Amino acid sequence: MTDISPITPVRFGIVGTNFISDRIIAAGREDSRFQAVAVYSRKQETAETFARKHRLLHTFTDLRAMAESDCIDAVYIASPNFLHAEQTILCLSSGKHVLCEKPFASNAQEAKEMIDAAKRHNKVLMEAMMPTLLPNFEQVRQQVSKIGTVRNYFASYCQYSSRYDKFKAGEVLNAFKAGMSNGALMDIGVYTIYPMVILFGKPLRINASGLLLSTGVDGQGTVQFEYPSMLATVVYSKTFDSPLPTAIHGEEATIMIDHINCIKSVALNNRENKTTEDLSIQPLHNEYYYEIAEFINIIQSGKKESTTNSHQHSLWTMEIMDEVRRQVKNR
Ligand SMILES: NC(=O)c1ccc[n+]([C@@H]2O[C@H](COP(=O)([O-])OP(=O)(O)OC[C@H]3O[C@@H](n4cnc5c(N)ncnc54)[C@H](OP(=O)(O)O)[C@@H]3O)[C@@H](O)[C@H]2O)c1
Repeated sequence: MTDISPITPVRFGIVGTNFISDRIIAAGREDSRFQAVAVYSRKQETAETFARKHRLLHTFTDLRAMAESDCIDAVYIASPNFLHAEQTILCLSSGKHVLCEKPFASNAQEAKEMIDAAKRHNKVLMEAMMPTLLPNFEQVRQQVSKIGTVRNYFASYCQYSSRYDKFKAGEVLNAFKAGMSNGALMDIGVYTIYPMVILFGKPLRINASGLLLSTGVDGQGTVQFEYPSMLATVVYSKTFDSPLPTAIHGEEATIMIDHINCIKSVALNNRENKTTEDLSIQPLHNEYYYEIAEFINIIQSGKKESTTNSHQHSLWTMEIMDEVRRQVKNR
């Protein structure tokens, strides 16, 4: 494995050939330190089509061969959730840094094994949770300390899935298949929980409800959390849309967030003088740029993990999601 000095680009191998990998490559190329050089696909033809589209030099149909290859330094993993742990551990054990899509794993046990592998092999491992690395999330973080005692967090992310029409017509795509660790909580709800964990840590108590679809995956859910001096509620769905924003209520002011899955607007509503202050930061880059920049910064600074999308935050989020799924299943 070659050493990477601050001026050397980080060469990425890509796992997963769906639209999110297209977006990551486009965003990564806004950073001169990012180089997409290889792709792994189960099929040679898919790998070649993807490589042509993105001008990649190498294709693989054997993940181990890509992971062990000298042509890459890091791997971006955008496979179905149930494969994240196995593929991450394989790449880390082969000496590659890993940026792994959300949700981090199928469950907390797998997340622990991934983190242990990163430590054992001394490689960078980060969850590709995009919104928490946006400049507007940093703005939210700074404002939280200015709104008085925080009493409530409310987050909503409800998006009618483009794959739900097919599901209703009888065609079950990966997103609604049980056994692939998918469903509303894993795919969508995670966006409401991860920021809460970064801002407020792990809750004391969890009370979850959800509606299961015929395949056994959840289509929607509502979860209430109890912290020592505040409450939190998250609402998520793949079966309906909602324009509801996210809000963090302090005794002195409320922070309003337009979309918790990709924050574009942050506003502060002051209780006393009834004013609303727009605190949004206009990003200079594509929204996915920031997670790639963070990942490369960590590699090049010699650190092993992000302080925002940290191992602890990913693990706590998985532990919370394990408990939510346990409660929803047992109701
Ligand atoms: N950050 C974001 O904004 C965002 C957006 C969408 C998705 N995601 C995350 O990205 C990941 C991929 O999501 P997706 O919707 O793209 O998933 P997907 O379409 O089900 O699968 C992604 C890729 O994995 C491979 N694959 C599909 N089914 C497989 C199977 N049964 N066994 C092995 N490999 C299989 C396919 O690549 P090949 O055919 O080339 O092998 C496919 O292109 C998920 O973790 C999801 O949560 C993130």
